[in-house]
Amino acid sequence: MANLNNKKLVIIGGEGNGGVIAACIEDNRKRFNDYECMVYGFVNDFETQVNGYPVLGGTDDIPKLLKNEDLYFMFAIHIIGRNVLSEQVFRKVNIPKNRYAIVLHKTALIADNAILEPGVFVMSNSYIGPKAHIGQCSLVMANSIIGHDTKCGPVCHFSASSITSSYVTIGLCSDVTLNAKVLEKRNIGNFAVAGAASLITKDIPDYEIHVGSPAKFMKRVRED
Ligand SMILES: CC(C)(COP(=O)(O)OP(=O)(O)OC[C@H]1O[C@@H](n2cnc3c(N)ncnc32)[C@H](O)[C@@H]1OP(=O)(O)O)[C@@H](O)C(=O)NCCC(=O)NCCS
Repeated sequence: MANLNNKKLVIIGGEGNGGVIAACIEDNRKRFNDYECMVYGFVNDFETQVNGYPVLGGTDDIPKLLKNEDLYFMFAIHIIGRNVLSEQVFRKVNIPKNRYAIVLHKTALIADNAILEPGVFVMSNSYIGPKAHIGQCSLVMANSIIGHDTKCGPVCHFSASSITSSYVTIGLCSDVTLNAKVLEKRNIGNFAVAGAASLITKDIPDYEIHVGSPAKFMKRVRED
């Protein structure tokens, strides 16, 4: 039976990650008759519209938007390499957990006992294994795999076609980027990045970007 909730979603972000969340919601509606959510608009400090959707205000307008109790939110700001800044904006918007939605593409396969915190997004053809725990407002882009018992903190980002194996732990606001692969039982710290197409065989400490196969230290993320 069709889900007709039509929950009004405000996406905080731009055409990159935010546009993908909007595309997911539209596809769920058009191809799968899933009307759980509708895109009500965006919050963006620089644009007046995003992909044809209205911008309802900037991040300073969020307290006003929160007063409308019909609105739910998704946090889609995540700049790879500017992880510290992304997390600062996440703290600034300060949306109560119960006002975040969870958006899942209908083709995503999520184990029954995986835990998805509020604000999590999972795009098409992704897989999240048993007992995985995905932190608040983390974004799992298309064709990503996250193995069983893997845990990540809030505001992490898994780019398209990333593979994160089982029993991996990932801290706060970190990245597994395009086509990167993380071997099982590795630890990725806070504000850390597994670069595009890397093979992560060793732990990545806080604030470090590692690239290559096997991956090695490249540089630190910006801290401003
Ligand atoms: C690791 C990363 C953040 C570095 O970005 P950057 O600081 O802008 O790096 P640059 O593009 O300036 O490249 C600097 C050097 O590193 C090399 N390099 C960059 N990324 C690399 C990678 N993933 N693996 C190997 N080498 C890499 C470049 O070839 C360049 O080498 P050179 O100095 O010999 O020419 C970036 O390459 C990356 O992985 N981005 C993720 C992309 C992604 O997932 N996007 C989201 C889509 S959903």
